This record gives sequence, structure tokens and C-alpha cells, in this order.
Amino acid sequence: MSENEAIRGNAFVEVNYDDKIPNNVDLNSDKQLQRALEGWQPQYLEWWQEAGPDCFQDADVYLRTAVGVDPKGWAVFDHVKMPDYRWGILLAPKEEGRTIPFGRHKGEPAWQEVPGEYRSTLRRLLVVQGDTEPASVEQQRYLGKTAPSLYDLRNLFQVNVEEGRHLWAMVYLLVKYFGRDGRDEAQALLERRSADQDNPRILGAFNERTPDWLSFFMFTYFTDRDGKMQLAALAQSGFDPLSRTCRFMLTEEAHHMFVGETGVGRTIEATVKAMNAAGIKDPYDVQAIRKLGVIDLPTLQRKANFHMSVTRDLFGAEISSNGAELFSAGLKGRFEETRIDDDHVLTDDSYPVTSVKNGELVTEDVPALSAINSRLLDDYIKDCQGGIDRWNRIIANAGIDFEIKQPHKGFNRKIGEFAGHHITPEGELISAEEFAARKDEWLCTEADHDFINSLMKACYEPGQYASWIAPPRVGVNNKPGDFEYVKIYESDVSVA
Ligand SMILES: [Fe+2]
Ligand SMILES: [Fe+2]
Repeated sequence: MSENEAIRGNAFVEVNYDDKIPNNVDLNSDKQLQRALEGWQPQYLEWWQEAGPDCFQDADVYLRTAVGVDPKGWAVFDHVKMPDYRWGILLAPKEEGRTIPFGRHKGEPAWQEVPGEYRSTLRRLLVVQGDTEPASVEQQRYLGKTAPSLYDLRNLFQVNVEEGRHLWAMVYLLVKYFGRDGRDEAQALLERRSADQDNPRILGAFNERTPDWLSFFMFTYFTDRDGKMQLAALAQSGFDPLSRTCRFMLTEEAHHMFVGETGVGRTIEATVKAMNAAGIKDPYDVQAIRKLGVIDLPTLQRKANFHMSVTRDLFGAEISSNGAELFSAGLKGRFEETRIDDDHVLTDDSYPVTSVKNGELVTEDVPALSAINSRLLDDYIKDCQGGIDRWNRIIANAGIDFEIKQPHKGFNRKIGEFAGHHITPEGELISAEEFAARKDEWLCTEADHDFINSLMKACYEPGQYASWIAPPRVGVNNKPGDFEYVKIYESDVSVA
């Protein structure tokens, strides 16, 4: 069944693909909104051409497109040229009678319109979330040229088009609910650029470079997981359209983290396999391991340290009056809010937060409301561990003595309680001088990056993989190993 047949077929009436902008929000019935979004659409496509994947715009990519919001069977797969991807507006179904699950409005009916008193706060929330979506596409712009396989190239582009769709999701809310201001914000979202000197993206991690494929996998495992946590907190929102938007975005986010987890896992697999084949048992025999054309495990750990610490900064200050107000206002909840066993108002509750006091790391109870960000960060750190455990199993099963670990929460932080302090991955508070002297043990050096870059050579043969990464266990949509996930044409190759 082709994409179009599936889309037109009766089974998928949920999303209207006849409109210029695919949607399940009955866009047709609101002409003014439809016109505003149709006006934004060509500008979005301009942004995609200018800041999205470099080259490959003519390539046929085996992409999934959402055709419904039912968790079972919401997507079809087909070869599509990226600029023809049907970016649309998809909200999870409305839950009748939903009430605000937390904060001072707990128990009141969820808002279907923006409450006037929270208008500017809510707008800012949407803008900050929306800004991360195009930013990651911009950060990953050049990766196609060094893809380790067609399978990975396809996964990169899948993530990219879905981040583009996430931008659509936030822009829909801005334009529909915030009038002129919302339209201006939608415009500005296309104007900022990752790492731009004059007009950068809003959050720090989204102005970092994603220079190589290992960075991409670490980013999709660790930083897209920040996305998951933020969306999960916003999915609790008392503002119902935001909740419904985020609930559907979460189903897409799961795939991005899968790409990251399996990407790092396959990198590890190639490394330990090559080590065993060469009879190398010592994971610190770095020069010998690198000669095998694979990435040594200590370098992987350093790379992970960077991505974890930078991503933890995205949660904002651990103690935050802003976080408290977002919660009390009913705009942004906690991770799995409705499953937490407490009063969901938190005026009398406390939460333990670690900080530096008189030259020592101490953990103290603080009012739970002011520690909302801290709690989300702790939940994030727990959520990161599952994939790390699976990576470590690959290493252990190969009989190699090495373990990937999460650094201490305070390691290499620029925001929050640990900013300005120097903490080792083991959680030891040290001087700035000592940190500077030992930094290369914990974070990748220029030489590490040069080595990683030396491995980044495109491999576009169907079924072939670069030396440093193992093939996946299963293909996308159960396609066979030599499936041509991306059909690259002359025009793409010559530029690439
Ligand atoms: Fe996203
Ligand atoms: Fe994502």
C-alpha cells in the first residue's frame, strides 16, 4: 500500500491530508487560522531549504508519515523527497471532562482557551519549547555527508522532518491562541539560527555543534530525552491544547531516543567486536584500538560526559521561582504527575536538593515548589540509565572490563546550583586549577575529535556500514538488510 492509498483509505480518516496543511484539528473550519498558517508554510519551507539538511533535498527517503494519532498504527512508510514531506498538525484526542491535575487550579476544568492571567508566561513556554525543534535540525545540517550507512542517513532525516513537525506543533498553538503576538513569534522561530552570533537559538545546548555522528547519537539519546521530559511535563498542562499537542509529540520523540540508544549501542558493538578479533582485552589500549577503525570506550565515555552535562543544564536552575510558578499556575507539571502519590499542590512539601555550601556538597530539603526543576532533572537522570545499562551489557557480554557511567550531577555544569564550581565525574569538589589540569580525562580533547572525524566517511552502499558502527539488528519497518533506505541521485551526490 502506498502512502497515498493508506492516507486516502478509510482506515485513516483521522488526519485530513486533502488540505494544504495535513491536520486533525479541523483547520478548514477556521479560515483565518488556516490562512495565517498557509502564509507561514512557504516561509517554513524556505527555512528548511536554507537551514535544514545540506544536499539530499532531491533524494527519495524512506520516511514514516503520521496518518493518525492512534498509538497503534499511526504511520505509513514510503520513499518521499524531504521537501514534499507532509508536515502537519496532529493533536492527541481530546479527553472529555479533563481537569487540571495540579497546582492552585487543581480540579478545575482544563482550559480550552488561554487564561488571560497566564498569557505571557504560556507564550514564553511555547516559544522556548518551539525554538529547540528547528535548532536541532540546524545543528545536524551537515551530517548527511558523512553518514555511516543509508539506514543511518534515513534515521537522521526522519528525526529532522519530525523536529520540523514539532516546530509546526508549537507554531499552531502560537498562531491559533496568541493572535498578532503569536504570528510574530512564529516568524522569529524561523529567523533565529543555532550558534548564530547575532540571533542564536534560546537555549545553550541548542547552540552547540553536532559535528559528527557520535555526537548525533549522543544528542538523540541524551538531549532528545530532555525533550521527552519537557514534553511529558507539558503534557500535564492545564492548557488542554498544549497537553494534547505534547502527548502526540511524545510518540515521535520515542523514535529519536531509539536512534540515539541503538546508534551508541552499535558503535560499542563494533568496538568490542574489533577488540576481541584483535585479541585486545584492555579498553585503555587506546592507540591499538583506534588502529582498528573503531572508537575506544574511554572516548565514548568522555563524549557521553559532555552531552549529559550540557543537557542537564537545559533543566534550568534547580531552585527556581519560575519553575514554582509554572507548576502552581497549572501550566507545567511534573514527570508522570498523575501517577505521583501526593496532593499535587505541594504547598507544604519538601524535596532534597544537592548544592555547594561552604566548600562542600550538601543535600538539604527545600520547599518542593521551588525544587520542581530539580525533581525533573532527577527524573531525567534516572530515565537515562536504562539505555546506559544496555550499553554496558554489550560490553560485558564481549568480556571486556569497562562500564559507561553517568557523571555526578554537578560535573561540568554552567547553570544552577553547581555553576561556577568544579566537580569531578565522581562527585569530588576540586579547584578550578585542578579541574583545568584534569579536564582531558573527562571531556573529549581536540585530538579525540580529530580521531572521531577521521572515521566520518560516508558509506552509501545499501547494506554496508562504516567500520566504526555495527549494522542494526532489524531494519526500519522490517525491511531487509540491503534495503535502499535513501535513493541518492546525481544532483545530491555531486554536491555531497
Ligand atoms: Fe522535538
Ligand atoms: Fe526529538
